[in-house]
Amino acid sequence: MQFRDLETQYLRLKSEIDGGIARVIKNTNFISGKQVNELEGRLAEYVGAKHCITCGNGTDALTLMMMAWGIKEGDAVFVPDFTFFASGEVVAYAGATPVFYDVQPDTFNADADSLEAAIRAVNAEGKLNPKAIIAVDLFGQPADYVKLQKVADKYDLLLLEDGAQGFGGRIGDKKACSFGDAATTSFFPAKPLGCYGDGGAVFVNDDNTADYLRSVRIHGKGSFKYDNIRIGVNSRLDTIQAALLLPKFKAFCEYELEDVNKVADLYTAQLCDNVITPVVTEGFYSSWAQYAIQLKDETERNILQNALKEKDIPTMIYYPKPMHRQKAFEGIKQYVDCTVTERLCETVLALPMHPYLSEEQIRFVTDNIKCILQKR
Ligand SMILES: Cc1ncc(COP(=O)(O)O)c(C=O)c1O
Repeated sequence: MQFRDLETQYLRLKSEIDGGIARVIKNTNFISGKQVNELEGRLAEYVGAKHCITCGNGTDALTLMMMAWGIKEGDAVFVPDFTFFASGEVVAYAGATPVFYDVQPDTFNADADSLEAAIRAVNAEGKLNPKAIIAVDLFGQPADYVKLQKVADKYDLLLLEDGAQGFGGRIGDKKACSFGDAATTSFFPAKPLGCYGDGGAVFVNDDNTADYLRSVRIHGKGSFKYDNIRIGVNSRLDTIQAALLLPKFKAFCEYELEDVNKVADLYTAQLCDNVITPVVTEGFYSSWAQYAIQLKDETERNILQNALKEKDIPTMIYYPKPMHRQKAFEGIKQYVDCTVTERLCETVLALPMHPYLSEEQIRFVTDNIKCILQKR
């Protein structure tokens, strides 16, 4: 069993994917080919954002927004403590200070009260300039942008949706990657919509920000390639990646998103009496980048993970360390306690999750979990 079965997906879409890649090779339009434009148009329309600007990866997408907003030394950017390293890394890379806040125990997403407490603490101290909030759509579910936007408005802060794991989720009819002042996503292979290498995108409505991003991702280009009007970076999505993302995006919309939700429902039905199963808030929809259960404590989690490994059932611990405990952030002041994150790092376990899991495979996983836990 695979944790995320990209091979089955490839075999289902083989002719479209192979055909798309072959056309790029034949036309030799490897960089900035028309497939990139086509993909950007389709993704923007799907998400409901005016502009989609693709780039090299999800980390660059966040970095490009730090550049667009002029985030710099002395600024504070608020980041959830329970997330992938890149969400905080880009803030420090811009020279600013990441201020970590806690998440909710059931959805794993930003806790608006903890965020507000962190903002107040930074304001009270008066050393840093609060500039922006990063919220993460962890494991596929959008963060609560209704609450978060209120906090952002109250303290006059920019709000950035890190939708690296969240593409395809929604709140009501509003899609992930359309919240806040800007949103980003990642096409890393294991993401809900993944390519065959690195890739990412920024979504914005503001025309000037979109122009800036289109320039800065290609060495700060002006009206033509060798006219450079600002210092930028080199961060483009390869045409081959765009070409294979087009059929993958079609499958994602036509059946993958629905199928992965059926997998989640079956997992929850099978496991809800035995472990803490993930919660999707009423009116929210997840794209299930991960299906993470919670165990009683670290010992039980580790025993279960090892026992599942013996049955060839792969699992992952996302994430074993709070951001504020990462060595790279040593010396960065903690303004609020993040006790929920501390606990989640000890108790979460992500199960195999993708749209191509059969009912038989799901039952094999859940029967083994029940059996292992009952034996304890
Ligand atoms: C929440 C989050 N933000 C940012 C990233 C960075 O994306 P990439 O790996 O494409 O740079 C990831 C990737 O795992 C992520 O999960």
